Amino acid sequence: MKAKILIVDDEAAIKKALTKFLVSLGYDVDAASDGAEAIEKAKDKIYDLVISDLKMPNMSGIELIKQLKTIHPQIVSLIMTGFGTIESAIEAIKTGVFHYITKPFELDDVAMLVEKALKFSHLESQNEMLKRQVKMQYHFDNIVGCSEKLKEVFHIVQKVAETDSTVMITGESGTGKELIARAIHYNSKRSKQALVPVNCGAIPENLLETELFGYVKGAFTGAIKSKVGKFELAHGGTIFLDEIGDMSLKLQVKILRVLQERRFEPVGSTTTIDIDTRVIAATHYDLEELVQQGRFREDLYYRLNVIPIVIPPLRERVSDIPLLVNHFCTIYAKNNQVAKPELSAEVMNIFMNYKWPGNVRELENTIERLTVLKPGKEIVTADLPEKFTKLTNAYFFKAGVTIPDSGISLKNVVEDFENSLIEKALSKTNWNKNKAAHLLRLNRTTLVEKIKKKNMTKPIKILQPSSKIIN
Ligand SMILES: Nc1ncnc2c1ncn2[C@@H]1O[C@H](COP(=O)(O)OP(=O)(O)OP(=O)(O)O)[C@@H](O)[C@H]1O
Ligand SMILES: [Mg+2]
Repeated sequence: MKAKILIVDDEAAIKKALTKFLVSLGYDVDAASDGAEAIEKAKDKIYDLVISDLKMPNMSGIELIKQLKTIHPQIVSLIMTGFGTIESAIEAIKTGVFHYITKPFELDDVAMLVEKALKFSHLESQNEMLKRQVKMQYHFDNIVGCSEKLKEVFHIVQKVAETDSTVMITGESGTGKELIARAIHYNSKRSKQALVPVNCGAIPENLLETELFGYVKGAFTGAIKSKVGKFELAHGGTIFLDEIGDMSLKLQVKILRVLQERRFEPVGSTTTIDIDTRVIAATHYDLEELVQQGRFREDLYYRLNVIPIVIPPLRERVSDIPLLVNHFCTIYAKNNQVAKPELSAEVMNIFMNYKWPGNVRELENTIERLTVLKPGKEIVTADLPEKFTKLTNAYFFKAGVTIPDSGISLKNVVEDFENSLIEKALSKTNWNKNKAAHLLRLNRTTLVEKIKKKNMTKPIKILQPSSKIIN
């Protein structure tokens, strides 16, 4: 398909010459004499590239390009400028103009710039498409896990996606509630329409009401124009009411009515708006408990809880951990363009015994950090933040020690224990004192002193006789 170019210049001669030249190169070219005419043209046709003069009466080239971008965000632009105004041309580039052409110009130079700009425009639109695809990629393949508990969740998600039923997702913070909400929407017949998330916990009450239902001009001081609410924006699609447990009782009444009647009035309006919006809600609270405490309306609870999905905390589905680790290592290695790190068996073991109070999000953050710090390397226990090793320490102590009736010498036992830990660290690192000191969180000098004091020596390796006889 021919690339579409719009030329804008108040100088008729230039306009004509450029048009003729670019047409001869096979482009589809239109021309305008000023900003207003250019905008009119852009309303009827999607241009790939605009070449505009910088200084024009009424509207400058920069202003024109800004306005064109609001109509066609993907449009690429070139600015033409006289000799004295190169400074402002450079300014223009900072505002997102692709390049400038100084007048008078050689036609061949223009041809080259046009080609470059169009190539760029093509790349940009490919990028946009990719971004959109990534957004759409909420099929189950990016929800990782093989535990029975997660499989149950998948099963419900699959079944419920096809329906319009209201879904209530509960789970601790970071368990993947939003991910599941997105999976439901993008696997439903509403997937081409919007998924509109609202974080009910993060928005103050009075703002949340206008956010959800919108308002009309003059509804309150400062309402200088009307605003469409999220429920209406999600018409045909899905609204995701995140952290619904934080919503005030007053707003809960309004939400209940929307759920019952599928209609509402924007703030300050008497006109009722009918909507076809699917509702998915989520909370990290135990809603039943909130109901008992009088902080959540019981009737709303039942309206929302049509299909409950409970996402178990990560510590209750330990078998998902290796898969998630691998998944995040791959993602963060790719994002940071580094090699994927490997986890030592010991680290994996620590991860599988850790409680993960922040659930998958905490695991994700941990892996992101480790991938950046040790790209392509093996991650060992010493690389982990203290919160993980604290736990192994406690585990260590609890594990080995029982006090006999006859009692023990604390000093001797502690010393024995110290010796055995130092020996283990040394043998693990093949007597590399730097590495051993690192494993034990000691200075090298402290370790060397201890080794000396304790008279420790590197055991002599007994070489195995080689099976190969070399003459
Ligand atoms: N099973 C999973 N597979 C892959 N990534 C996951 C999985 N579960 C959660 N994640 C990732 O963990 C992070 C936290 O997930 P999400 O935001 O959905 O949790 P949440 O339950 O909504 O948390 P919060 O209550 O804190 O809002 C996200 O980056 C998400 O992509
Ligand atoms: Mg969330």
